[in-house]
Amino acid sequence: MKENDVKKCWEENAEAWTTLSREGYDIYRDHVNTPAFLSMLGNVKGLKGLDIGCGEGHNTREIAKKGAFMAGIDISEKFIHYAQHREDQYPLHIKYMRASGLNIPFKDESFDFCVAIMSLMDMSEHESAIKEAYRVLKKNGFFQFSITHPCFQTPKWEWLKNEKGEKTAMICGDYFRQPNGKIEEWIFSSTPQELTDKFNKFKIPIFTRTLSSWLNVLIKTGFVLEKFAEPYADEETLKKYPQLADTKIIAYFLITRCRK
Ligand SMILES: C[S@@+](CC[C@H](N)C(=O)[O-])C[C@H]1O[C@@H](n2cnc3c(N)ncnc32)[C@H](O)[C@@H]1O
Repeated sequence: MKENDVKKCWEENAEAWTTLSREGYDIYRDHVNTPAFLSMLGNVKGLKGLDIGCGEGHNTREIAKKGAFMAGIDISEKFIHYAQHREDQYPLHIKYMRASGLNIPFKDESFDFCVAIMSLMDMSEHESAIKEAYRVLKKNGFFQFSITHPCFQTPKWEWLKNEKGEKTAMICGDYFRQPNGKIEEWIFSSTPQELTDKFNKFKIPIFTRTLSSWLNVLIKTGFVLEKFAEPYADEETLKKYPQLADTKIIAYFLITRCRK
């Protein structure tokens, strides 16, 4: 699948994604992945950062609130429009730009850090995206990104459930098949019925890779691997959102931090 087709899908997803995530229905992002991501990010006050594949800007804003000077790029015009609109309403001095992570419109060594939050596995060429992040980083700068976990979110997967219908394990397959933009259709699982009726399901082209492929590309590019996390919901969170119990059965996300 070509970049333009990827862009087309995300333009179509942008309105529903922005509305539903801003209503708080992306509970896996808001209560599992983002808290772990921000915790690993640590102190970025005063640093210059780039969010690659920033979507409507939720996580870019979270990082800007930690005191970083942020820029955000996304392949979708609509997402950048929604992000900019929020910036105009509640300024955090974030500079948004419509651009591809495969061709970042900044000079070499422009940033102290780059992040890509759940976006790299949606890009058609992960190697080019990682090389671009490396290029725009200052020497000793870091790149932190989260992706769907390569070992569990494989091209083929299915939950095993017990007699009560509770998830107990996951069957994964086709690990070594690298889908070139296979479209997955889904909507945030906690979206109420009246809204699932209103919006079409997202159509997401996926480009998942094996774990060794991700790690080898990082190493080949010149990054030094620094830290990993496989976040899951803690007990406090589970009391509020029992649906997140499945985050303790398999790892949905892999967060990686590496340095130039
Ligand atoms: C799963 S969403 C994540 C959005 C955001 N980072 C978040 O955490 O809410 C993936 C994002 O990657 C963007 N994307 C896909 N391919 C891209 C590319 N080549 N360059 C920049 N952004 C891209 C999509 O438009 C979408 O906004």
